[in-house]
Amino acid sequence: MTSDEWAVLVENNGKTYVVELNDQQQKMKGLGVFNPVESLKDIPLGGRVIIGQKELLRLPPRLPELAKGMARRAQTIGSKDAGFFLARLGLGPNDCVLEAGIGSAGLSMYIHRALGRTGTHITVEPRSEHAEVALENLRRTTASWGGSPVHHHIEGTIEESIEAIKEHATGFHAIVLDLPDHPSAIGACSELLLPGGRLACYCPVSSQMERSWEACETAGLTVEWAGELMEREWGRASKGGMRPVNGPFGHTAFLLVAQRQ
Ligand SMILES: C[S@@+](CC[C@H](N)C(=O)[O-])C[C@H]1O[C@@H](n2cnc3c(N)ncnc32)[C@H](O)[C@@H]1O
Repeated sequence: MTSDEWAVLVENNGKTYVVELNDQQQKMKGLGVFNPVESLKDIPLGGRVIIGQKELLRLPPRLPELAKGMARRAQTIGSKDAGFFLARLGLGPNDCVLEAGIGSAGLSMYIHRALGRTGTHITVEPRSEHAEVALENLRRTTASWGGSPVHHHIEGTIEESIEAIKEHATGFHAIVLDLPDHPSAIGACSELLLPGGRLACYCPVSSQMERSWEACETAGLTVEWAGELMEREWGRASKGGMRPVNGPFGHTAFLLVAQRQ
């Protein structure tokens, strides 16, 4: 289900804008000043519109578009690593998921899509300026997808928020930690995992992954998988055939998944 509250507009180069359908002039970086309701009232999904100097394609607000055009502040987790977490944690309807820190809600958007309208998602974040951006992104997904899981956001570090978390849920099917330092968080929250539940860590450097592994073992969890995912895009060559596209073959982070057995 989609709502009429948000529109997605895509440039030929793929640049994506997520536009709130307010009936007033608004200024949007890259598009200038325009009234979205006025400009889009006769443009169906799949139709094209000229705004300022740009020709744009109107698409529905699905996860890839909302993620591409999301508001950003902290470094976000993208589709490559988010998809792995969803699969390895086995997330789906009715699950109860704890996440720290929320950052810009890059990962939270994927979690909401997987849980649908029947799960519970608790997020923790000490920096209100990050949470503000994150909650704006989740406002967009909720409006666009006709609802969201039950979502509680707690301001603070995860280490100091355990009692506040327990007020909303006593056990979790999954916990995801994307933090500058994992061991103290693992020590604090691993008791909240249900039997069979899994904890995942997103670690930009390998020393963080090693310390996370040690902290999981100290907390009585069994490490199931640790490593990184390589993604190599291919495209069509100008003289025919297909080959890996030019561009960086980049690193995002090391991932670790551990289970309470
Ligand atoms: C890289 S960002 C998370 C990005 C997020 N995964 C996303 O995809 O948008 C890391 C966040 O962890 C928060 N943080 C740092 N220490 C924390 C702690 N002890 N407990 C909870 N959050 C913490 C930071 O403020 C920051 O917003």
